[in-house]
Amino acid sequence: YMHTEIPEGLKRLPGPKPLPIIGNVLEVYNNPHLSLTAMSERYGSVFQIQIGMRPVVVLSGSETVRQALIKQGEDFAGRPDLYSFKFINDGKSLAFSTDKAGVWRTRRKLAMSALRSFATLEGSTPEYSCALEEHVCKEGEYLVKQLTSVMDVSGSFDPFRHIVVSVANVICGMCFGRRYSHDDQELLGFVNLSDEFGQVVGSGNPADFIPILRYLPNRTMKRFMDINDRFNTFVQKIVSEHYESYDKDNIRDITDSLIDHCEDRKLDENANVQVSDEKIVGIVNDLFGAGFDTISTALSWAVVYLVAYPEIQERLHQELKEKVGMIHTPRLSDKTNLPLLEAFILEIFRHSSFLPFTIPHCTVKDTSLNGYFIPKDTCVFINQWQVNHDPELWKEPSSFNPDRFLSADGTELNKLEGEKVLVFGMGKRRCIGEAIGRNEVYLFLAILLQRLRFQEKPGHPLDMTPEYGLTMKHKRCQLKASLRPWGQEE
Ligand code: HEM
Repeated sequence: YMHTEIPEGLKRLPGPKPLPIIGNVLEVYNNPHLSLTAMSERYGSVFQIQIGMRPVVVLSGSETVRQALIKQGEDFAGRPDLYSFKFINDGKSLAFSTDKAGVWRTRRKLAMSALRSFATLEGSTPEYSCALEEHVCKEGEYLVKQLTSVMDVSGSFDPFRHIVVSVANVICGMCFGRRYSHDDQELLGFVNLSDEFGQVVGSGNPADFIPILRYLPNRTMKRFMDINDRFNTFVQKIVSEHYESYDKDNIRDITDSLIDHCEDRKLDENANVQVSDEKIVGIVNDLFGAGFDTISTALSWAVVYLVAYPEIQERLHQELKEKVGMIHTPRLSDKTNLPLLEAFILEIFRHSSFLPFTIPHCTVKDTSLNGYFIPKDTCVFINQWQVNHDPELWKEPSSFNPDRFLSADGTELNKLEGEKVLVFGMGKRRCIGEAIGRNEVYLFLAILLQRLRFQEKPGHPLDMTPEYGLTMKHKRCQLKASLRPWGQEE
C-alpha cells in the first residue's frame, strides 16, 4: 500500500511508521483500545497502522464512525478474512465470515425474523408480554435462589460462573426450547471458558495478521479451537435432534423455524439468492454464541460495579422498592419508571466499553473517508472505547457517574445523551440482538437488585482492570450476597 497510487485529490493516510515484517505490533498489541485511542490523539480520527504486513485503518470519533458506517455504510459493510474467523462456526458464521453482500443480507434478515418470532413478539401466555420476558423472569428468580444457596454452602460466589448459565438458558430457551442445570458439565465446558474465545477474536490479535505465529505453540489458540469444537458439537447434537423430531405444523423454537425455512425454500423455485441449508441452520450457532457471551459479560460487570459503588446500589434498590415494590417480580413494562436503573446500565456500557471494538470491518470497494484514500479489502477497526471516552463528547469520561444520563432533578432519563453511547455498532452491521440485549440486561438486573445486596468478600479486594478481548472481562472474583427483606410492601 505504501507504494500504491493515491487518486488525485485524495490524501495518503497518516499513521505511525511500521517496522519491517511485524509492522506496528509492538505499539498496538498490549490493550489495543488504549494504544489506538492514544494514537488517535496524535494522528486524528482516521489513521492507518500495519499489523504484520497488513494495513489496518482505525476509525475513532463519533462523527467519523457515523460517516463510515451510516453515510458510506455499503463501502464499509464487509468482514476481513482473518485467520481466527475460519474456526468460528466452521467458517460459516453470519457475524464473522466473508459472505458476499447478497448471502449475508439474506441470512441477516432470516436471523432477525427468527429472533422476533421467538423473543420479542407477543407471547402466547397472558402472564408475560413476550417469550424473552418469560425466560428472563424465570431464570432471574432461579439465579437468586442459586446464589443464595451457594452463599449458604460456601459463603461467597464467582458471579460470572452463575450468571453465564442463567443467560445461556435464556437464549437456549429461544433457540432450542430447553434449559440446562447450573451443574451441566457439557454446557459449563464452553460457557464458563469463553474468556479465551474473546481473547483470540479481539481486534488486533497478532496471530490473525502474522502467519508464522500460527505455527508456534500457543496455549490461548489451542483453547480457542477447543472451545469452538465443544460449542459446535453441542449445537450440532441439538440440531440433529431437531431434524429428527421436526414437525412443520408445530414450530417449537428458532432451530425449528430455520429448518422450516429450508424446507419451504425447496418448494420456491424463484428464490434468487442461493444459500445452503447448512448456512441457514448454522445461523442458530451465531445467535446462541452472541446471545450468551455479550449479555453475561455485561451483567457480570454490572454486579462488580454495584459492589464497587455501594451507595449507587442502595439508590437503585430504593428506586425498585418505590416503583415496583417488594411483592412482584419486575417486568419489562416497569423499565420506563426506573430511570436510575436505565442510567446505570448506560453508564456500565459506556464506562466499561466491554466491547471495545466492533467486530472488524472491511472495505468492499475503493473508497475515501475525510479526504483519505482507502483501497478495497482494507481491514477496518472501529474504536468504540474511544467514542465512549472522548473528552470532546463526555464530561470527565473516566469517572463512573450514572447521573450524567439523568435530568437535573434525577427523575428523567436523558435519551439524547444515552444515544451517544456506542456498544452495538451502527449501520449495516449493527447488532441484531440490541433490543434483546438491552431488555435482558435490564430485567436480570432489576430482579437481582430487588432481592439481593451484593458485597465485597473481606480480604478479596476487587480488581476492575479489564482483560482485553472481543468482549473484555473483569478478573474472576469472589463476592457475597444477602437476601433483602422480601414480600413486605412499605
Ligand atoms: C454484532 C454488541 C447482544 C447477535 C454485534 C456487534 C456488536 C454487538 C458491537 C458488531 C457490530 C459491527 O461489527 O459493527 C452486542 C452487545 C450485546 C449484544 C453489547 C449485549 C449487551 C446480542 C444478542 C444477539 C446478538 C443477544 C442475538 C441473540 C449479533 C449478531 C451480530 C452482532 C448476529 C452480527 C451482525 C452482522 O455481522 O451482520 N453485536 N451484541 N448480539 N450481534 Fe450483538
